[in-house]
Amino acid sequence: MTIIERVESLLGAMDLAEKIGQLNLLAAGEGLVTGAGQPTALSDRLANGGVGAIFGTKSLASARALQERALAGSRLGIPLFFAEDVIHGHRTIFPLGIAMACSWDMGLIRETAAYAAAEAAAEGLHQVYAPMVDVTRDPRWGRVAEGPGEDPLLASRIATAMVQGFQGPGLGAMLGAGSASGLGASGHVAACLKHFVAYGAPQSGRDYDNASLSWEDLLETYLPPFAAGLEAGALSVMAAFNAVNKVPMHAHHPLIEGWLRASRAEGGQGFDGLMVSDYTGVKELTPHGLGPAQLAVARALHAGIDMDMVGEDYWRELPALAHHGIDAPDAGFSLGAERIGAMIDCACRRVLTFKARLGLLDDPFRGMAETARPPARDKGRALARKAAAASAVLLENNGILPLARGARVALIGPFAADRANMLGTWSVSGRAEDVVPLDQAVAALTGVTPARAWGADIVDESWLAARLNVHGVTVDRDPRPEAEQIAEAVAVARGADIVIAALGEAKEHAGESSSRLSVDLPAVQLRLFAALAALGKPLVTVVFAGRPLSLAALSKQSDALLYAWHGGVGGPEGVADLLFGAAEPSGRLAISMPRHGAEAPVTYASDPSGRPSPGRFAKFLTGWLDLEDDAPHFPFGFGLGYAPVGYGPPRLSRDTAPASDRVTLSVMVVNHGTRTAIETVQLYASDPVAQVTRPARKLIDFMQVSLSPGESREIGFSISAAQFAYPVAPALETACWQRDPGLIRLHVGANSRDTQMVELTWRD
Ligand code: BGC
Repeated sequence: MTIIERVESLLGAMDLAEKIGQLNLLAAGEGLVTGAGQPTALSDRLANGGVGAIFGTKSLASARALQERALAGSRLGIPLFFAEDVIHGHRTIFPLGIAMACSWDMGLIRETAAYAAAEAAAEGLHQVYAPMVDVTRDPRWGRVAEGPGEDPLLASRIATAMVQGFQGPGLGAMLGAGSASGLGASGHVAACLKHFVAYGAPQSGRDYDNASLSWEDLLETYLPPFAAGLEAGALSVMAAFNAVNKVPMHAHHPLIEGWLRASRAEGGQGFDGLMVSDYTGVKELTPHGLGPAQLAVARALHAGIDMDMVGEDYWRELPALAHHGIDAPDAGFSLGAERIGAMIDCACRRVLTFKARLGLLDDPFRGMAETARPPARDKGRALARKAAAASAVLLENNGILPLARGARVALIGPFAADRANMLGTWSVSGRAEDVVPLDQAVAALTGVTPARAWGADIVDESWLAARLNVHGVTVDRDPRPEAEQIAEAVAVARGADIVIAALGEAKEHAGESSSRLSVDLPAVQLRLFAALAALGKPLVTVVFAGRPLSLAALSKQSDALLYAWHGGVGGPEGVADLLFGAAEPSGRLAISMPRHGAEAPVTYASDPSGRPSPGRFAKFLTGWLDLEDDAPHFPFGFGLGYAPVGYGPPRLSRDTAPASDRVTLSVMVVNHGTRTAIETVQLYASDPVAQVTRPARKLIDFMQVSLSPGESREIGFSISAAQFAYPVAPALETACWQRDPGLIRLHVGANSRDTQMVELTWRD
């Protein structure tokens, strides 16, 4: 039987309650492993066949036990599937999403996703709530930590790599095919692209806030990573909490049933997989102002949300809706009972199809054998360390780095011996004890234990500390007066030849429900830094954080500045490798570094205005009176290595070409140094004569190459006219992509600012 036949025959045998049960997605919660004594909501639901899937099981034994319960409670023996937030690693935590994006290394990103999938699959999990592909240009938004940064092309390539890594080659089983792939056995899981869509464009950077933006921006900036993830075969998608242009995403019929699900011929993506709500996202339609629970449920189901996560509103409201329909003329919404029944069938069909694709209808315990083994931990650790080194971005270096291994170093600051913060936000299965802290990493690498001081108090405002505590704060407090602590740090620094300041933010400073207005380091750390800088000793600053920060004070006074993000279990080891030259810095910013929080959103790709000449007419300044320079402090794509790389002049195979042809842009890159250089050659485009204002620059391709000392290599980019198309969309329904014939400018270089330009003319 094909998957379609299998699912249809099952659906035909199900009653209404069984179908609604499949749409109910619950959290495992505490104490539900075997559910012994007290029946909980979950065990009651399982006994009645009222659960389609569970997330957060935390162990193979728990997943198995729940699967047994579900099968016993299901007349037709329909299994559950199990999901988890595996955002940047499962037990082995890799660098944050934003950090991995800075590697610009798709092979590495794919490998980390594949490793995480193997760990997750060995715990009986079938679906991960990742990749998080929310493009964002706002450093205030806490969830910048999880995502791919500011650029749609980079984000799209990451979406592809992560879906491939999670799902492996076989998971996107064709509906017409006889049986599903060997998911469990092969250690792969279903990806879930999230959060659909524009969750990364909230007003003022406040988490969960709504996005009001042009349809053009939505189509060109926020939707492409979803399109790429779907193209790679992602089996599921999660809706976002926010509204887009006034309609909450859990009720956004035009974007879900339209853009996402409609066939390609109709202008959609033809997505036939599973759409899940976010945590209580259906329920939240009520406070969004879309009406009481029954109306909210009808709207969400109608919009195309198949499964209701945690809120149980589908479970409660759908039986009545299926019998009576809904008629809410004052809310402009009416659906007959028959239509609702058909929509329930449709959602249930998608849940069953998802299970079939995972191989669960053939074997509910697929991949859950007692003998299931996670991949070798040491392999994961080595990968985590490599990923941490590849994702840290070297922003300044006056030649002090790499350090000699015998150097007398003092490690000062709250992150000098930190473990817990290194995991970063959304590391639900990670353990702080798996992290080798920076002082130990340096000692192990160099054989010299660094002197160390100041290990606490990274939050200076007490009200903020109290808020962070709500999130289970990872920050240590030192009861001694600040002056005493700084004096001690300065004394330790004085005794060393080189000072390494390990500064940054706690993992709770970024993440869900953790937006911040300020993009400055905690003031107490800036005071510590000033005291260290005043010593006049060689000063290397390493910043650990989950979001971009303003680095003005640090960069002026540091001899080297390394942005290490929260690098996961191998984070500090990766940093030690970079500082002492055991690895080459190759990270490039996936997001612009702001000068001031109030500038947000910040992007290299903003549209030009009519008054773009800074300095010429001070009265018509395009920036801010109280900001000296409004260009990002460190631009998108920026990062240094230890070997200087030179670029020859770019050349086109032809400077005029018919739009049906391809043109090659070639550029010679040369490693002028004595160490290996890992260079990411970036290609941007601008369209100076268009029908609308186009971004000043737009990344259209990039290539990462490794160059030995002295090596030169010609890099070629194959360019087609299609790369210059842009959306025109007075309304979403009438959106189309167009391209202007004529002049295009191509900018090639090491980052979005430092480029050389050639002109190309398309003859249409
Ligand atoms: C988050 C999702 C996450 C879900 C389940 C929500 O609060 O927005 O990203 O997958 O919780 O944990």
